[in-house]
Amino acid sequence: MLVTAVMAGGLDETAAQRGPRDWEAERRRMVAQQLRARDIRSPRVLDAMLGVPRHLFVPEPRRDEAYGDFPVPIGFDQTISQPYIVAFMTEALAVEPGHRVLEIGTGSGYQAAVLSVLAEEVYTIEIVAPLAERARQTLGSLGYQNVHVRTGNGYFGWPEHAPFDRIVVTAAPDEVPAALVQQLKVGGVMAIPVGTRSQELRILRRTSTGIETVDTLPVRFVPMTGKPRG
Ligand SMILES: C[S@@+](CC[C@H](N)C(=O)[O-])C[C@H]1O[C@@H](n2cnc3c(N)ncnc32)[C@H](O)[C@@H]1O
Repeated sequence: MLVTAVMAGGLDETAAQRGPRDWEAERRRMVAQQLRARDIRSPRVLDAMLGVPRHLFVPEPRRDEAYGDFPVPIGFDQTISQPYIVAFMTEALAVEPGHRVLEIGTGSGYQAAVLSVLAEEVYTIEIVAPLAERARQTLGSLGYQNVHVRTGNGYFGWPEHAPFDRIVVTAAPDEVPAALVQQLKVGGVMAIPVGTRSQELRILRRTSTGIETVDTLPVRFVPMTGKPRG
């Protein structure tokens, strides 16, 4: 009897007893409370994040946390970024339907999936091989056919597919890698966290005469590894 009382109070329910979760409702709540209620205004970004099933990019044991207002571990000491940060970076990029986008730091593949809804082609590079393989499988099984995942070091970009309209970097280097600037089109935009202890989310625009830079938010990303020596 005591057990029944506890369960009725919802204190000790198992997932099976709770029944299937309404992931769509959780996603709607995430978009309303974490994105729209803050400062994310782009209908294309809000719609994309409403559509992409974020929980399927989070490893099963932590799936319940997928729509929380925080980054979630995905293994190998890496994380899927907080939904607000994904939205903020994506909005700052102002991705258009014909764009070719390069992402450095595939991680779970979630940011790439959001970008793939907005762009023509997404090229994404992940240095941790098992993460790249898992992201490839997740993206493939969900039918995101315009995302190309490469296992490798993003410091060098992806010269075979350059130049890119947009570049997003989701791990923090101590300075902007020169190869990435070179692979950005004139008129192109890059969003990149820069710094070691304290990081700023930097937005760079390549103009015909140089680079315009704006620092936007203080952020905390995992460090970008694989810095070439010399
Ligand atoms: C915050 S996580 C990425 C989150 C990811 N965008 C997502 O949606 O799940 C940063 C990722 O960058 C990767 N990374 C770090 N240094 C890298 C490098 N030099 N080249 C490519 N990927 C790198 C890490 O292994 C990690 O998976």
